[in-house]
Amino acid sequence: MEIVIQRTYEDLCDEAFRVLRQELLRKPGLALGLATGRTPAGLYRRIVDAKLPMKRVRFFNLDEFIGLPPSDPRSFHHLLHERLLDPLKIPERNAHLLRGDVPDPEKAAVAYEKVVRAAGGIDLQILGIGRNGHVAFNEPGSSLGSRTRPKTLEMKTLVDYAGTFASPDEVPRFSITMGIGTILEARRILLLASGPEKAEAIQRMAEGPITAEIPASALQLHPKASVLLDEDAASRLIRKDYWKWVYANKWRVGQ
Ligand code: GLP
Repeated sequence: MEIVIQRTYEDLCDEAFRVLRQELLRKPGLALGLATGRTPAGLYRRIVDAKLPMKRVRFFNLDEFIGLPPSDPRSFHHLLHERLLDPLKIPERNAHLLRGDVPDPEKAAVAYEKVVRAAGGIDLQILGIGRNGHVAFNEPGSSLGSRTRPKTLEMKTLVDYAGTFASPDEVPRFSITMGIGTILEARRILLLASGPEKAEAIQRMAEGPITAEIPASALQLHPKASVLLDEDAASRLIRKDYWKWVYANKWRVGQ
């Protein structure tokens, strides 16, 4: 796993954008997995502003609140359309997004796995991380081999989303989420984290043992995962200087 520490949030978005553009040049019909949340907003803004040629890109999302229809402004479906898919004028056939308003979420989850497989798998997966170490909505204790499925949310997650809803009681208790096993099958992974509130989760996922208690620690098993951080999110890393040293020397290997 590669740890990349940038000075600011804007710098980490620049770095994520650089990687994405490179992957897109390599494969114009990229299967791109999207995260929602605050953190990737700067990356999505850069994609829209740069007017990258993305008409052939196939888009997938990580997770959704069960019970929210795509028209609900708090749904991830709505957010991704607003931030990325609508400004880029992505044709509906290329947007494969989990929905929260399906009558049978278990069945929808199995069907989603088939859609991902039929697309040849995810080429580049963008991830965020929760304060409790979750990726997508794989809360602590999730099986590291899990597939897309409905998942009960933790209290900490409900509190984090309380501001988005009128009251904490209104935050949906259940989600539908890609599993950790599903995420680990992506060919390339970029996890983005910014701010001091993510520092502990980052330290534990990057430098601690691989454990279902910190679902993001499963990325240590991935051959091509990069964790892009700003200084605040990196502030509790024990081997911070080493990670910086590795990255600074990356381009010199073999010279
Ligand atoms: C949420 C979502 C994730 C997201 C993460 C971080 O609960 N399920 O997909 O990446 O938490 O969100 P943020 O970037 O807003 O901190």
